[in-house]
Amino acid sequence: MGTFFEKPLFFCLLVAASLWWCSVFSTAELPRFHHPVKADGSLSFLVVGDWGRQGLYNQSEVAIQMGVIGEKLDIDFVISTGDNFYEDGLKSINDPAFSDSFTTIYTAKSLQRKWYNVLGNHDYRGNVEAQLSAVLRDKDSRWLCLRSFILNAEIVEFFFVDTTPFVDKYFTDPGNDTYDWKGVLPRNIYLSNLLEDLKLALRNSSAKWKIVVGHQTIKSAGEHGVTQELVQHLLPILQENDVDIYMNGHDHCLQHISSTDSKIHFLTSGGGSKAWRGGVKWWNPEEMKLYYDGQGFMSVQLTQTQADFVFYDVFGNVLHKFMVSKDLSSTPFERLIKVLHIPKILRYVGM
Ligand SMILES: *[C@@H]1O[C@H](CO)[C@@H](O)[C@H](O)[C@H]1NC(C)=O
Ligand SMILES: *[C@@H]1O[C@H](CO)[C@@H](O)[C@H](O)[C@H]1NC(C)=O
Ligand SMILES: *[C@@H]1O[C@H](CO)[C@@H](O)[C@H](O)[C@H]1NC(C)=O
Repeated sequence: MGTFFEKPLFFCLLVAASLWWCSVFSTAELPRFHHPVKADGSLSFLVVGDWGRQGLYNQSEVAIQMGVIGEKLDIDFVISTGDNFYEDGLKSINDPAFSDSFTTIYTAKSLQRKWYNVLGNHDYRGNVEAQLSAVLRDKDSRWLCLRSFILNAEIVEFFFVDTTPFVDKYFTDPGNDTYDWKGVLPRNIYLSNLLEDLKLALRNSSAKWKIVVGHQTIKSAGEHGVTQELVQHLLPILQENDVDIYMNGHDHCLQHISSTDSKIHFLTSGGGSKAWRGGVKWWNPEEMKLYYDGQGFMSVQLTQTQADFVFYDVFGNVLHKFMVSKDLSSTPFERLIKVLHIPKILRYVGM
């Protein structure tokens, strides 16, 4: 009969080709970490971005207030939205900037918790491997930085996404900046694998809350504004998968934009050091809840049914707060009742 499979040469070629195919196009599960909730089932954390400047530009002042609020809320960890070290990331695992901009700045007792970090575009201008290195975790056990990963904290799942490689201009028009794309090239394969991994992980998630963290903006009225590449490639995945919050840095401001077309809230916490850049663009006032051009940070307190967000300035003053609540009901039957708009009272009558 003479099919391909009966001929050893064709068979070998087929195996070789499929191995190559798998090695190039394989998707993998994103690395996963776990953080326990408090004894009462709640969780609280701070979010800061765009910070590492040896304490300058009010970085130290923001750090002090993070310590105060961190103490008050008994935080479980800190999330960094990237641009961890200015101007050009870390040079090596021995770069003193790690200590000068991180270890010796965030010294408050309440900040001696895990720091979950993503990379920003400025981090990509340095030695990326250094920032991801386990050596830094040994130097300061708080430090955890990966390109993309998942943090499961029982009531919430965080999806940390490496957003910098999505941005065309860093590749096509880098100016005088050089980027360390080791591990990212070939770019189209890196990005499609990442999106596929993220989709699978989001679909698979049964957490009450889903929060996606990146460096670049999706919705922002700041100097950088909207990141079109993320609107095109990332936003649809967030909308399809019931994501509650997207949080980012990149624009050096504090910002809360809600959505008229979905439930997602877009939060920018990029006020960790140099701010006051001006250049705020118009945004639909129905969606724009806060735009603050100066330094500061954000806190989040979560329970199964409620999320409280607060933005603070450099003095620790509250600039803005809002709350999102979730129905306790989570069985398919109860969701159906909700979708059918059966009045609340009926839900408790014999159900
Ligand atoms: C530090 O914060 C204060 C208060 O917001 C502000 O007036 C000042 O300009 C900031 N300094 C820098 C260097 O951004
Ligand atoms: C690149 O550097 C040169 C020399 O320092 C400078 O003249 C030029 O304006 C810079 N270009 C950009 C895009 O920053
Ligand atoms: C799916 O969820 C389970 C349980 O949380 C986890 O162990 C597994 O790694 C997840 N798979 C993916 C593709 O994220």
